[in-house]
Amino acid sequence: MERKAVEEILDDIDYEFARTAPPATFPNLPRIPARRYLDRDLYEAELGLFRRSWLFAGTVHEFPAVGSYKVMDKWGGASVVLVKGQDQRIRAFWNVCQHRGGPVVLGENGILASPNLKCVIHSWVYDLEGNLKGVPGRRDFHNDFDAGAMHLKHVQCDVWQGFVFINLDPDAPPLKDWFGPIHDEVSWFDGLRVANRGTKVLECNWKVAIEANIEVYHINTVHPETVALSLDYRGSAHQLLDRGHSRMVVPNRGYDAAQARADVARADIPVNGLMKHVNVSYLLFPNHLTPSQNRRPDGVPTLTLQQFWPLGIDRTLSEWYVMLPDWGDRELSDEEKRGSVYYGVVMDEDTAMLDQIQKAMQTQVLDGFLTSYHERRIYHHEASVDRALGERCVPADMRVPQILPLEG
Ligand code: FES
Ligand SMILES: [Fe+2]
Repeated sequence: MERKAVEEILDDIDYEFARTAPPATFPNLPRIPARRYLDRDLYEAELGLFRRSWLFAGTVHEFPAVGSYKVMDKWGGASVVLVKGQDQRIRAFWNVCQHRGGPVVLGENGILASPNLKCVIHSWVYDLEGNLKGVPGRRDFHNDFDAGAMHLKHVQCDVWQGFVFINLDPDAPPLKDWFGPIHDEVSWFDGLRVANRGTKVLECNWKVAIEANIEVYHINTVHPETVALSLDYRGSAHQLLDRGHSRMVVPNRGYDAAQARADVARADIPVNGLMKHVNVSYLLFPNHLTPSQNRRPDGVPTLTLQQFWPLGIDRTLSEWYVMLPDWGDRELSDEEKRGSVYYGVVMDEDTAMLDQIQKAMQTQVLDGFLTSYHERRIYHHEASVDRALGERCVPADMRVPQILPLEG
C-alpha cells in the first residue's frame, strides 16, 4: 500500500472519530428490499455470478509437489481440479473426461500416484497440462478420432500473493484487473499458509451472511467479550471500490492518532506502521472476506479468509481459513492453535441470529435492510450484485440504485 493511501486512511480515521453526523452529501439510502434475499429468480441469477467471478481455491502451500491436486465444486455444477504441473505451475481444468464425462480425479486433495490424470471410468489418461495421452482400446475409435482435440477443458487459474484463484468464465478479465487497486496494495498476504479451516451451515441467504460481517456497528453488542475488546468501531474508515470490492480499516481500542502517524512516518513500509494500530479487512466480491488481520507480538502477520457459498436460497456454507506465515516442518504452538479456536467463537457470535433475520423477511414482517452511512458497504454489495448481473436483469422493484460513488 502506497504511503499516500496509508496517510489517507489516517485522515479518514480522524474524520470518522470527529464527525457527529454522516457527511452532508451522503444520500438517505433507500431500504434494500427483502425480496432480494427471497426471490428464486434473482437467486438463480446470482449463482451465475459465482461462475463468472474469481474464487479463492487455496494457497500455494496446498500444492507442494508435481501432481499435487485439489478438487472444488462449490458452484452447483461439475467440479474443477487444480493440479501442479511438471513446470511447477498450478493449472485448473474441469474435472470432466472428454470421452463421456467421467471424473479424472476422485477425492478432495492429495498428490497423484502417477503424474497424470486418469479417468475413473474407461481410464483415458491426460498429462498435467490436460493433453490426452492415452486411450485404452484405441482400435475401436474411428480413424478420424482427433486425440489432440480432446484436451481437458481449461479453467482460468492465477496465483496472487501465494493465494490461488480460479475463474470458471473463460472470458473473465485477468485476476489483476478484477481486483483493481487491491491487487497492488495488499502485500501482507504473501507467504501465508492455512493453519486451520472451519465450516458452518447457516440458515440464511448468502448475502445476509456476508453482509452481517462487513460492518462493525455490531461489535459492542454481538462481540462484547471478543472483538469489542480490541477494536473501536467509531473510527472505522471504509472504501467502496469498483467491481463490488470494498475495504474497511478499524482502529484498535484506545487508538492514538499521533502515535499512528509517527509509526507510519517512521516505517520503511508505511502499511506496517499502520497495522500496529488498526485491523484492515477486505470484501473481495462476491463472496470472500478477510475479516481479521493481526500482527503477533513478533510483528508477523496473520489473516483469516472467509467464504460464503450458497447452498440454497436460505442456506449458506460459511467456510473460513485461519492463516499463519509458513511454519515449515515444526509443530504449531498452542498459542497458534488457539487463534483458530478464537475465530470459531467469533463466528458463532456473528451467525447466531442470521436464521431469525431470514425468517423475519420470509414472514414479510421486515421490508428490507436499512443501512446507515457506516453500513454503506452492505448497500454497495447489493448494488454491485445488480451491476454484475446487469441492472435490467433485476426487476425494478428489487433493484438497488447506484447512488453511492466509488471511493477509490
Ligand atoms: S468417460 Fe472417461 S474414459 Fe470414458
Ligand atoms: Fe462480527
